[in-house]
Amino acid sequence: MGVVRAFGYLVATVKDIDGWKRFASDLHGMQVVEHTPERLLLRVDERAWRIDLRLGDAESIDAVGWEVTTPEDLEMLDKRLCDRGYITHRATSEEAKERGVTDYVSFTDPDGHGVELYYGQKLDATPFVSPTGARFVTKDMGLGHVMLSVSQSAPYRELYMDILDLGLSDYIDVGPDPGTFLHCNPRHHSIAFASRPNIGARFGHLMVQVEDIDTVGRAYDQILEGAAPLGATLGKHTNDEMISYYVKTPSGWEMEFGYGGKTIDQETWVPGRWEAAHYWGHKRGSLLSS
Ligand SMILES: [Fe+2]
Repeated sequence: MGVVRAFGYLVATVKDIDGWKRFASDLHGMQVVEHTPERLLLRVDERAWRIDLRLGDAESIDAVGWEVTTPEDLEMLDKRLCDRGYITHRATSEEAKERGVTDYVSFTDPDGHGVELYYGQKLDATPFVSPTGARFVTKDMGLGHVMLSVSQSAPYRELYMDILDLGLSDYIDVGPDPGTFLHCNPRHHSIAFASRPNIGARFGHLMVQVEDIDTVGRAYDQILEGAAPLGATLGKHTNDEMISYYVKTPSGWEMEFGYGGKTIDQETWVPGRWEAAHYWGHKRGSLLSS
């Protein structure tokens, strides 16, 4: 088991802050910490924030944040990255304070998305309060998972499996390149990626999970009534058994909103190989499926 404990936060540049507030908070129940014309900061649990959206002229993923527990672990991964040719940046104390963590290291992944390794994220002493009554499944499993459509899988396997030491959950053989699903805690997967030449390199989706299927159903009803563009219908995944739908965010990439995801015992887990991503549902057009 590696020292990365969780996918803990997402930082992105977006063009529509107010659209994101309606999408993330009014529709999906995240708590607004800060909402200005330039910034939307969101909570889903006791952490001071989990999603940080900044206004900009072009959409970008600025940081997929991976949590470690000690400064020694951060040093060790920083060195490993540098030894494998990555150029890293160690946060100044001002940058770390601004990010709300004790320390972090940043770099870009093979397709240019920002990645950060951090420890010691700020906690909020006030209770998390969802505007829709949503209760998010986080704790030791982090924010959720991300899915990337990548230009090539091999460099991503090197980064996330060889360097950051995430464990293989399974592969799904859909399309020309198998989807690779990796874990770093009991959540079945915290990141997945596949090369899809027809789609190209882009951020696919962020998955967040809630404790109650009715929370998913109520938001789904609003989406069917036009609250946001549906990406894929309600369905159930094979590998993590998540019942979820996909919805287009105001940034164009998708969010998977789910219930019932499988947890695994990392010590005894045996990776499998699936030929389908869904038991049922998740119907879509030509969009990426996972
Ligand atoms: Fe997913």
